[in-house]
Amino acid sequence: MLESARILLEAARRGAQPGRDGLIKSRCRRPSGEARSFNPAISALSRQARWWGLIAVMLCGVGTLFAGANTPTNAIMAGPAVYVPDTVHQNDAMPDGVFAWDGLMKDATVAADAGIANFSFSFTNVSPGQVAVLDVHPSCGCTTAHVPTMPWIIPAGGVGQFGLTVNVAGRTGELIKTVTVRTEKGMKQLYLKIHVLPPVLPRQSDADREHAVQVARADRQAIFRGDCVSCHVKPGQGKYGKPLYDADCGICHDSHLRASFVPDLHHVKAQTNVEYWRTWTAHGKAGSLMPAFATSDGGPLSDIQISSLVQYLAAGYQSQSAENK
Ligand code: HEC
Ligand code: HEC
Repeated sequence: MLESARILLEAARRGAQPGRDGLIKSRCRRPSGEARSFNPAISALSRQARWWGLIAVMLCGVGTLFAGANTPTNAIMAGPAVYVPDTVHQNDAMPDGVFAWDGLMKDATVAADAGIANFSFSFTNVSPGQVAVLDVHPSCGCTTAHVPTMPWIIPAGGVGQFGLTVNVAGRTGELIKTVTVRTEKGMKQLYLKIHVLPPVLPRQSDADREHAVQVARADRQAIFRGDCVSCHVKPGQGKYGKPLYDADCGICHDSHLRASFVPDLHHVKAQTNVEYWRTWTAHGKAGSLMPAFATSDGGPLSDIQISSLVQYLAAGYQSQSAENK
């Protein structure tokens, strides 16, 4: 009990010690008279003594600073002046005539299995004075900025360059990311446009395709087993929405080589709605080559994955594709 009280007191004493202890130590001795061991009888007294001690230390510190002003060799004053950037305008739009950029939007096209997209931006300080960059902040946790320590001082006429890496694993299609650059003279928004190419599947020989169709005719769920998995199941694992559609459905329905019995989903004759898409996706059609994707029907897709597909397909899949074509 007494011991824990002593530990608490000791912790409080350490906490009260000013952070610049190290700077002051050489000139100021810590005032003596501090009670190191705990005694309830003198605890109140020692608490007072501690406060006086603290005040003495602070006064001594101030004294040191003033003394420093008179003696230029003082350690505190001899160090390089710490530049304190001006953050007042960091959220205002950056006016023209501060940084000239090599581009405000950068494009990259990457293969599906590349996993990342790399970008670089460079800029010139065209203003008459130095400008401190305060922060380079990507909009998405998937993006890493490769920048020097902030604040990053760009002298007048100076050039700065930084890189960005976007993690695109599991993504397909077009992605847009933003990056906000904050400086003393205002902020600028930069854009990254990434086109992730659809995965390239190994080519099948005509014999292989014919054999696959034979196998599927015997059992439409066969595409979820054996050799078929590498093209018909693996590419969709862990995906949702459009990327899942592209991997698991587009493989048959959007292939330019698709067999005549595979319908074009962009021109479905039936009236489509959520129920329509859910029924076809989960259960397919017995006696045809359209498999059932729901786990309950022996398929590979979880309920959440199916819902994500239904949502994507029901949300104007046809009108979207009409625009693209
Ligand atoms: C190397 C990748 C790959 C493998 C392995 C594969 N498929 Fe396919 N499958 C495709 C592609 C791609 C299509 C779309 C048509 C095309 O482009 O050839 C397709 C289409 C189909 C079709 C629709 C008919 C058609 O030709 O349009 C069926 C049915 C099918 N596959 C069943 C199977 C079965 C069953 C297996 C396993 C025995 C299998 N596939 C293995 C890539 C593959
Ligand atoms: C192995 C190739 C294959 C795959 C993979 C596939 N389908 Fe199909 N799908 C077919 C075939 C074949 C039909 C035609 C069924 C029939 O004979 O009526 C069809 C029919 C459909 C229909 C009915 C279209 C109409 O005209 O009425 C819908 C909707 C559909 N598929 C959605 C999907 C969705 C969603 C996925 C992905 C989860 C998917 N399909 C994956 C082969 C495939």
